Amino acid sequence: MEELKFIDLFCGIGGFRVAMDQACRENNIIPNCVFSSDIDRSCQDSYEANFGDRPHGDITEIDATSIPDHDILYGGFPCQPFSIIGQMKGFEDTRGTLFFYIANIIKQKKPKAFVLENVKQLVGHNEGKTLKVIIKTLKDLGYHVQYTVLNALDYGLPQKRERVIIVGHREPILFSFPSPIRPFKPLELILEKKVDRKYLASDYIKQKRFEKHKSAYKLSIWHENKSGNVCSYPYSCALRAGASYNYLLVNGERRLTPREMFRLQGFPDSYKIIVNDSQARKQAGNAVPVNLVKAVISKLLPYVAKSLDMKLVFNEYELESPAT
Ligand SMILES: C[S@@+](CC[C@H](N)C(=O)[O-])C[C@H]1O[C@@H](n2cnc3c(N)ncnc32)[C@H](O)[C@@H]1O
Repeated sequence: MEELKFIDLFCGIGGFRVAMDQACRENNIIPNCVFSSDIDRSCQDSYEANFGDRPHGDITEIDATSIPDHDILYGGFPCQPFSIIGQMKGFEDTRGTLFFYIANIIKQKKPKAFVLENVKQLVGHNEGKTLKVIIKTLKDLGYHVQYTVLNALDYGLPQKRERVIIVGHREPILFSFPSPIRPFKPLELILEKKVDRKYLASDYIKQKRFEKHKSAYKLSIWHENKSGNVCSYPYSCALRAGASYNYLLVNGERRLTPREMFRLQGFPDSYKIIVNDSQARKQAGNAVPVNLVKAVISKLLPYVAKSLDMKLVFNEYELESPAT
């Protein structure tokens, strides 16, 4: 079997890595993560417990040229505004932002391809200028770049979580984003049968919820929005790292357990949760939905493999050649 080298930037707890490992295994490729980085110690602990290697720290303190060569770069980077003075200058405009460090690694290391992820709000951020600078910067580095907004709900997970996905490849390829894969997993397969009493909401909270809402579903996740409106669905609204304690309630009466939150993000039960509940909530809330990026990676892998002259037979997707 041949191997693909990749790096995992802003890796958090390794959503991209789980997805890459699964996609490679299904296509008889050996995934080889040659570098990872996240500034958060608790994320580093989780990552090390599950993958055996500890991520490097602050990316702003790492010399891009010291990063090992790799075929694919992954990065779910925090969204920050760019200062846009006069005309948009792309690469120069991004200086001082975390995106700049990704762009600089791409510039120095020239991977075959990259997949970047961010919140949906990036599309409208700073009247669309932030995303425009990001795309221009990546194109100026010599990549063919496509982006779209995908929803985890469309890729088998019972969570409405919309994310911008940016894919780049050095060569012109006929990559297209994966079609939706419905239905999503029912909550029955996500929710634990027995949970500790500590996850139960107080009588006061329950009463307030039940006064406002009656669910149409046997199993549902109740969601209270900023203005206090309560609604429920047979799936979860987006997990959030900094949400209030009772933002999401199973059947209006209890909070999600860490395992349920990790399942909602597509992490397999073999993923070890070694941190306390509040860290687990933050880590799950920041993670990338595994199934969503796995669908993207599975469509990208044949092109990367082909450009590396790897002799592989792909089951799922047929390679198409660009018209020109
Ligand atoms: C949106 S999260 C990415 C989560 C990841 N995709 C996952 O599946 O868990 C962004 C991550 O960037 C990390 N981060 C922020 N600033 C950083 C820096 N200067 N260097 C390295 N990592 C940083 C945060 O700690 C956080 O885990």
